Amino acid sequence: MAKKSIDFVCQNCGAVYPKWQGKCDSCNEWNTIVEEKCGGEGFSNLAPKHKGKIIDFVPLTGAEQNLERLTTGIKELDRVCGGGLVPGSVILVGGDPGIGKSTLLLQACAKVAELPIQPEVFYISGEEAIDQVRIRAKRLKLEQAPVKLASATDVRDIIATLEKSNANVVIIDSIQTMYLEDVESTPGSVAQVRACSYELIKLAKRKGFTLFLVGHVTKQGSIAGPRVLEHMVDTVLYFEGERGHHFRILRAVKNRYGATDEIGVFEMQDQGLAEVENPSALFLAERQGNISGSCVFAGVEGSRPVLVEIQALVSPTGYSSPKRAVVGWDSNRLAMVLAVLEARCGMNFSSQDVYLNIAGGLRISEPAADLAVAMAVISSLTNKPLPHDMVIFGEIGLSGEIRAVSQPTARLKEAKKLGFASCIIPPTHNKDKKPNNSEMSVFEIGNVQRLINWFN
Ligand code: TYD
Ligand code: MG
Repeated sequence: MAKKSIDFVCQNCGAVYPKWQGKCDSCNEWNTIVEEKCGGEGFSNLAPKHKGKIIDFVPLTGAEQNLERLTTGIKELDRVCGGGLVPGSVILVGGDPGIGKSTLLLQACAKVAELPIQPEVFYISGEEAIDQVRIRAKRLKLEQAPVKLASATDVRDIIATLEKSNANVVIIDSIQTMYLEDVESTPGSVAQVRACSYELIKLAKRKGFTLFLVGHVTKQGSIAGPRVLEHMVDTVLYFEGERGHHFRILRAVKNRYGATDEIGVFEMQDQGLAEVENPSALFLAERQGNISGSCVFAGVEGSRPVLVEIQALVSPTGYSSPKRAVVGWDSNRLAMVLAVLEARCGMNFSSQDVYLNIAGGLRISEPAADLAVAMAVISSLTNKPLPHDMVIFGEIGLSGEIRAVSQPTARLKEAKKLGFASCIIPPTHNKDKKPNNSEMSVFEIGNVQRLINWFN
């Protein structure tokens, strides 16, 4: 039999080392290298434990597994999950500590438990004692919901218990507090998180219950045991929001059973999270009139149009290298927009600080916001406000051209619904898709030079 050898494997990127070291040279992560036993000189030398069975192949058609979804009754959550909870699916909910993950999941599981079909719902907390969860349930007025609550961290106990139940939904809060005795590292380490998730996921698939795993986010913004966990689950949701703001965004970054980039918007109130059905109205609620450097971007998040205010402040710099600060958008994208305005329109930002803020704390990643950002920056630089009832969207290319973006009709429809009367958009080449000029004054602008002329 081949001699077993020990390798040291980075749990983040999979790089293999002959001996232990603190930092992985390949991905530069610290403390991710752990000992793993393998089969010596190549796996082909391993004596097989069993001969291997013949696998059955089947045609592509056939009776499908019943994937009837369980709707939680929290519409924002159901939509982000792709229309409800799929039995046997595993959903990872990540987010900063204190953002409201436990609150959201307690509300969701109480709602599910109260459904007329009486699903069996288990809430297993490894972070909080039973009393703490009860206090929260009381605060949320959910103490009567037939949720089965336990405080446990040993995954073997949890599996033995769930094995005997008819669970429909199980919540593990959080995966970083769980441990398996067989794994020789502390709870929260990559090896533990991976092993515990693997065991729980296997059980969820076999028994057909929906499993929610709560995961904390590290300082770098990824869930501990990052790539490992994201690959193992069906859906990854991030719960995000700015501390100073009361609303929270639940964002799907991966979903095997629905659209990614879908968002659900909630407001953290005294008695828990309330759904926000019209996020645009909320994001624009505090908008001031007649101010330079502010414009409204008609964005799309997942399947839903969302209007947000983009604010820019351009002011003479006191430093040798001017400052660029961005909240809620990509700073590289801002650098690109500024470079295009400098190169194609002769504007000069080399002695100006530029601050950009997406009001309300929403984070946008769409390139469709380029044009709105450019407009906000130009408006601030020239100190001229934009019309108050105007929305803007469009992507900017490096040669200064303004490019078409997806779902223009949905964006304009949302704007009209909220009382906006004019818009700046990229040129529409398809006649059938031309927006109706009688409902809204439409300015189709093809490049940034024309944008400046229009503005002057
Ligand atoms: P929590 O769900 O414990 O966060 P996480 O599980 O992500 O760590 O949320 C805690 C925060 O939410 C805490 O700062 C208090 C606040 N909160 C409210 O504002 N209203 C409420 O009804 C509840 C239950 C919590
Ligand atoms: Mg919590």
